[in-house]
Amino acid sequence: MKRVILSLFALSVVAIGSAAPQASDKEALRNANKLIKQMTLREKLGQLEQFITRNGVVTGPEGVKCDIDSAVRKGEVGSFLSIRNRNEALRLQKMAVEESRLGIPLIFGYDIIHGCKIIFPENLAISCSWNIDAVERSARIAAEESAASAIHWTFSPMCDISVDPRWSRVSEGAGEDPYLGSKIAAAMVRGYQGDDLAKSNTIAACVKHFAAYGAVQAGKDYNTVDMSELMFRDIYLPPYKAALDAGAVTVMSSFNDFMGVPASGNKWLLYDLLRKELGFKGFVVSDWKAVNEMIIHGVAADGRDAAELAMKAHLNMDMLGGDYIAHGEELVRTGRISEKLIDELCREVLVVKYQLGLFEDPYRYGKQNLSEVYYRPENMQFARELAAESMVLLKNNGVLPLAEGTKIALIGPFADSKIDQLGAWRGLGEAKRSVTFRTALEERFGKENVLYTKACECGRYKNGLIEGGIEEAVKIAEQSDVVLLSIGLSGWHSGESRSRASISIPEDQQQLLDALKQTGKKIVVLLSTGRPMDIRNEVEKADAVLLTWHAGTMAGPAVADLVSGDKNPSGHLTMSFPYSVGQVPVHYNSKNTGRPAKSQFKAQGYSCSYVDIRNAPLFPFGYGLSYTEFEYSDLKVLTPEVPLGGVVKVSVKVKNVGKRDGVDVAQLYVRDIVAETTRPVRELKGFERLSLKAGEVKVVEFEIPTSDLAYCHSDMSVKADAGDFYVWVGADSNAKLKGQFKIK
Ligand code: GLC
Repeated sequence: MKRVILSLFALSVVAIGSAAPQASDKEALRNANKLIKQMTLREKLGQLEQFITRNGVVTGPEGVKCDIDSAVRKGEVGSFLSIRNRNEALRLQKMAVEESRLGIPLIFGYDIIHGCKIIFPENLAISCSWNIDAVERSARIAAEESAASAIHWTFSPMCDISVDPRWSRVSEGAGEDPYLGSKIAAAMVRGYQGDDLAKSNTIAACVKHFAAYGAVQAGKDYNTVDMSELMFRDIYLPPYKAALDAGAVTVMSSFNDFMGVPASGNKWLLYDLLRKELGFKGFVVSDWKAVNEMIIHGVAADGRDAAELAMKAHLNMDMLGGDYIAHGEELVRTGRISEKLIDELCREVLVVKYQLGLFEDPYRYGKQNLSEVYYRPENMQFARELAAESMVLLKNNGVLPLAEGTKIALIGPFADSKIDQLGAWRGLGEAKRSVTFRTALEERFGKENVLYTKACECGRYKNGLIEGGIEEAVKIAEQSDVVLLSIGLSGWHSGESRSRASISIPEDQQQLLDALKQTGKKIVVLLSTGRPMDIRNEVEKADAVLLTWHAGTMAGPAVADLVSGDKNPSGHLTMSFPYSVGQVPVHYNSKNTGRPAKSQFKAQGYSCSYVDIRNAPLFPFGYGLSYTEFEYSDLKVLTPEVPLGGVVKVSVKVKNVGKRDGVDVAQLYVRDIVAETTRPVRELKGFERLSLKAGEVKVVEFEIPTSDLAYCHSDMSVKADAGDFYVWVGADSNAKLKGQFKIK
């Protein structure tokens, strides 16, 4: 969507770049076909296997010890994941290329989710910057550091929409909204793959977890996913599709069953939808042993059945299961699988290897001088800026920003924790490179002005109050002007298999807050977390709450920049913070129902509401405060009537009415008033990050092609209809400024 910003001082038009290279490359296809003619069946199956290394002792399929070097020499493995040591990767590559019969190069994949050496904020945090260019740049930097490390392929972007903070993997995604999630997914693919996959500083992207893994029931990781196709097409599919449209060359099938069939054996998902309907030409890798796990799901009797089911679903590469190489020949010999299908599965893997330039020069990734690529100063500075833009000011009664010379009591488990601020999925990141809150605040305010104590532990192995921790915390609070209290969840609590029934602040941290409250000192909560939490009590007790997330290597300087006022907070939530975990799933784009609640803020009966608490979340999608104020006015629907295929234009005036420069995120929401299926009460269909000097006014013009208003009909067709729409523009999903337009 093109956006035009009419500033009172200048006019600028912003357009988004074009998509990345096509997945199917004719030259690569020709070469792959030629090569396949020379390959034995076993060698073809080898290209469909991905093994792992474990601290240098390499093993084959997870848990199955095998002589990996001989498997490589025999061409029985085509890929490795999680090789963190460049020399080991190059050793294996040399063996494959120089000692196997056909010299087919290996492809190395790894989870570079939010940075490789420089760790950026976790993805949910980055999404709160709403800065699409910055999202792309973070992926670009991650790709450069990865490629230099002989990593050819990242298992990212994670495109799973989720509305359930009990599911710990929300930290890896872009929140609850399909429109924003789609923009972010495409930007990450562009960042990773650039405009030429064969360049030595671009890597293959991987769209995961296909599909709808973010909808696991009860927020329990790996759980069942069951939803209507309509819901899937409207809410969960768009980010995957956007990433594919941006040219992603691989996809990862998810652990969960989907409409009754595990994704790794789900032909509708991996073939009918992904390839026939969406035109995907790359290859699909399973998630970790997900092929073999179909036995446990109960849709395969043994590894042989699982391999057959996955192959027939058109899943190309078996991550760690070992069932393809173990049973493939017998499946072909007994006629259960045709060699023609194996050729297809193998061809799609080989094409990507050609596209990466691995046949031309198998060592092109890993030649670079690491000291010239890792931790570049300009990239570290960018990481600091992105971390600050990702943080969200949730409450501020005026205590922030802190004046020069303020005496600070810095307290809590994450204030000086190099590892926790990196979150989950730390790539090749090094905790020793983290700059903590404590280090940065001492530097910014003077060591003599920062008193610190940890007071309690929180993490995988140690939890709870430290002996005398509260007493020490109270003591330094009484010697200070203000308390900065770093609480929440540790980096270990983010990412895979950390689902929680409770998303409240741990009990001991609540005790710490209560004790500090007694001192009468102003308290600023610095909330470290990888997910929305149930923090209504803490918000009430604190004078300010800054959501710092797990903001990566440069989290500390970002916190110092914000609490000192050197930078003005600009983050806006991309996932609702529930008022209570009992509300989950709670999200802004819910349906009106036949009995909508009269008020979102009151408990009530005989309507779609609770009798014990309000409906409204604690903080809604799109919410975020600043040290200044922005006023939205003069919403104009410039095109009251638009033909199908036309463009809706809406303008609004935004004024910075405060005394400080700042950035706000103007958001545009629509509602389709009468449609063929029930539609959300609001849908995000445009946004613009606006930098405004104190007193400055800008007129923002949004352009929404009617194609962006398409939705899934009961016959599963996705299209826009004629009809009437409301439109709102404002600084969060409760935007009040309203207009109306009609599609004719
Ligand atoms: C994990 C994750 C997936 C990751 C893969 C390889 O289990 O589910 O996101 O890419 O295995 O580490």
